[in-house]
This record gives sequence, C-alpha cells and structure tokens, in this order.
Amino acid sequence: MADGFDAVGKVAVVTGGGSGIGQALCAALVQHGIRGVVVTDRNIEAARRVAAAINEAYPHGPAVALELDVAKSRSVEAAVEKVEVEIGPIDLWCSNAGIHTGNGLGETNDWRMSLDVNLMGHVNAARAVIPRMAARRGGHLVVTASAAGLLTDFRCAPYAASKHAAVALAEWLSITYADDGVSISCVCPESVRTGMTKPSSLKAGVSSNFLEAEDVAREILEALKARRFLVLPHPKVAEYEQRRAADRENWLGRMRAARRKLTQVTPSAAAS
Ligand SMILES: NC(=O)c1ccc[n+]([C@@H]2O[C@H](COP(=O)([O-])OP(=O)(O)OC[C@H]3O[C@@H](n4cnc5c(N)ncnc54)[C@H](O)[C@@H]3O)[C@@H](O)[C@H]2O)c1
Repeated sequence: MADGFDAVGKVAVVTGGGSGIGQALCAALVQHGIRGVVVTDRNIEAARRVAAAINEAYPHGPAVALELDVAKSRSVEAAVEKVEVEIGPIDLWCSNAGIHTGNGLGETNDWRMSLDVNLMGHVNAARAVIPRMAARRGGHLVVTASAAGLLTDFRCAPYAASKHAAVALAEWLSITYADDGVSISCVCPESVRTGMTKPSSLKAGVSSNFLEAEDVAREILEALKARRFLVLPHPKVAEYEQRRAADRENWLGRMRAARRKLTQVTPSAAAS
C-alpha cells in the first residue's frame, strides 16, 4: 500500500477555503509543512483574506487564493491545469465546499443548487484531478460530506440526499482508484461551528455537540496520514450508523421521535 499523506513539501488545493472547515484545513496544512496551499472559494474576497492571513504568519508565502465555483466543471478543470503548471502536481485535493439550502422538501432550485455543489462539486474534482494522480500513482482526495450523509438532516431533504450521494460517490471512488495509488477520505461531521451553522438556531437544537473547525481539520490530517476512508470527528456517529444498518425500522422510529421532540422545543421548526 502507498504511504499516507505527509504535508511536508506537498501541494494542496482546498475548495470552500474561504471560511469554516476549509479555512481551518488550509491553516492546518501550512502548520504541517505544506509547500503550497491553494485557497479556493466562490467568494474570492474570503479566499484572499484567508491566504493573506496565512502568508502573514508564514513569510515564505505558502498560500495562494484562487476563485473557483466547484459546480462549474470547466472552472475546476482550468483550476487544476493552472495549479499544476504554476505551482506543481497536486498531491491533495480537499473537496470541501458545500451549501445547506432549503427547508423541508425545499424548492426545485434548492435541489439543483445542493446537487450541483454537494455532489457535482466532488464529481467535477474527481474527473479533473484523479486521472492525473492515477498517472503519477499517488494522490489524495478528501470529500467533505456530513453525518447527514450517513444518517439524515431533519430540516432539509436536499442537504440529506445530496450528502448521501456524496458518501456513495466517495465509496465508489475509493473502491475504483485504490489500485491506482489514489486514496479517498470521506468526512462526516455532525455540527461544527462555522458560517454554515451560525445563522441557524435550529442547528443548535439538532445537536449540542458542536465541534470547532480546527478539530475537524486535525481529524482530517490524521485520517490522511493513516489513509483512512471514513473521518468521523464526532465518534458517536459510528454508533448511530450501526443502529441504522442493524434495524432500519427501529432507527426510523427513533428519528421520528427525535424530530418530534425537536419541533416541540423549537416550534418554528415544525414548518420545516
Ligand atoms: N458546519 C457544519 O456543521 C457541517 C457539518 C457537516 C458537514 N459540513 C460540511 O463541511 C463543508 C464546509 O462547510 P462549513 O461548515 O465550513 O461552511 P462555511 O459556510 O463556513 O464554508 C463553506 C465555504 O464554501 C464556499 N462555497 C459555497 N459554494 C461554493 C461553490 N459552489 N464553489 C466554491 N465554494 C463554495 C462558501 O463561499 C464558503 O466559504 C461543507 O461541505 C458542509 O456541508 C459542515
């Protein structure tokens, strides 16, 4: 088996690097000796701020900001080409960008956007970067899904379904490309204190078990070192997933009860 990921001297790209988990991941990679980290985001100002803060702390300037919308396959292909020509072969692609949009069953546009970003963002990355990694017989792709991709999200069907799809894709990639030396990790946290959870009082109701983005970044780097597929920053998620697989009827009953309890605590949630 090929070696686990050691950041020293490597080149990494992080999508959605302008905020939250992606921002923490960029900082952690630099702390671990990455040669170059490309902070990409749809919000270029946010990406620039993150890259500038890193370069202020590390005078050899390991961070570069790049505007990238992961939902656009041509942009992803162009970004891969640009990074490989200007900085070097990509050793690690952290496909982290994601959105949480829509209440309950959501509108058609919530589904389009969720699938475009939370699923196709990973497909676009895999198509653009895995063949290059496979040709070099080495590389790592991190797919940030969610505990919602193993379990559910009471409030938002487009999020739950798109994250389940992301987990399925990551598993497929891991099975298909391991023999080419490409390792895949799939990150499935519960609640993390980031921009995504800030405006939502509901999210706080779903889980009081909030982690910081830095905790998640640390778990990702440990999993990469071990070439581990599943990254569960909240270890209880493994237990919940086992319960779901062992007895689906019982699990659904528990989820219905939990949802009822949640909607009683926060009545506005009943509409979602
Ligand atoms: N925060 C949580 O509780 C939590 C839990 C589980 C999984 N996640 C997942 O972690 C990942 C990071 O989320 P976060 O919590 O750091 O959220 P965040 O909102 O703080 O950061 C997400 C970043 O992605 C960027 N982005 C959104 N759409 C994009 C696109 N099309 N192209 C490029 N960039 C785009 C945003 O501009 C933002 O900077 C997401 O995939 C999210 O679903 C978050």
